[in-house]
Amino acid sequence: MSRLDSFIRRLEAQRACLNNAAQLIAAVPGNVLEFGLGNGRTYDHLREQLRGRDIYVFERNVAAHSDCIPPSDRLFLGDFLDSLPKAIAQLGQETALANLDIGSGDEAASKQLAREMLPAVLQLLKPGGVLISDQPVESADLEALALPAGIKPRRYFLHRRR
Ligand SMILES: C[S@@+](CC[C@H](N)C(=O)[O-])C[C@H]1O[C@@H](n2cnc3c(N)ncnc32)[C@H](O)[C@@H]1O
Repeated sequence: MSRLDSFIRRLEAQRACLNNAAQLIAAVPGNVLEFGLGNGRTYDHLREQLRGRDIYVFERNVAAHSDCIPPSDRLFLGDFLDSLPKAIAQLGQETALANLDIGSGDEAASKQLAREMLPAVLQLLKPGGVLISDQPVESADLEALALPAGIKPRRYFLHRRR
């Protein structure tokens, strides 16, 4: 598979997971957390799919399209690992959906970052809340959910908090 095909499939999988998760949390009140603003693509998609939800964004370096920059009172600016304790203090356990889109070119470092973030993310995610991740995540507090049809296993990761 060419790199172009692989890139397209990754984005298709991501969109399918975001759309699926938006349906899964339809009956779960709560905020939405976006880890990794990047260009703002997934933030913009979540905004569109989940109108009316408070969406908080975590990013150390805001460089998104100007239309996709969250309001300053919805932005945790800085390293995820520094911002997470602040978010727990501010938001408590009221998150219905968390999207981890944190991967960099360094696969091992991205996996390690997800492992380090997970305990704090689980303190924010309420029971019944959904976690979407571009990195593998594992916890006794998480139940793996089936990926949307056509998405290859381990291309994306979808879980519900027990
Ligand atoms: C894959 S990109 C996000 C893409 C974005 N969701 C989109 O759809 O455009 C990952 C983002 O995570 C941010 N990031 C990576 N590690 C971070 C960390 N430890 N703390 C804060 N931000 C981090 C990077 O700056 C980058 O913008």
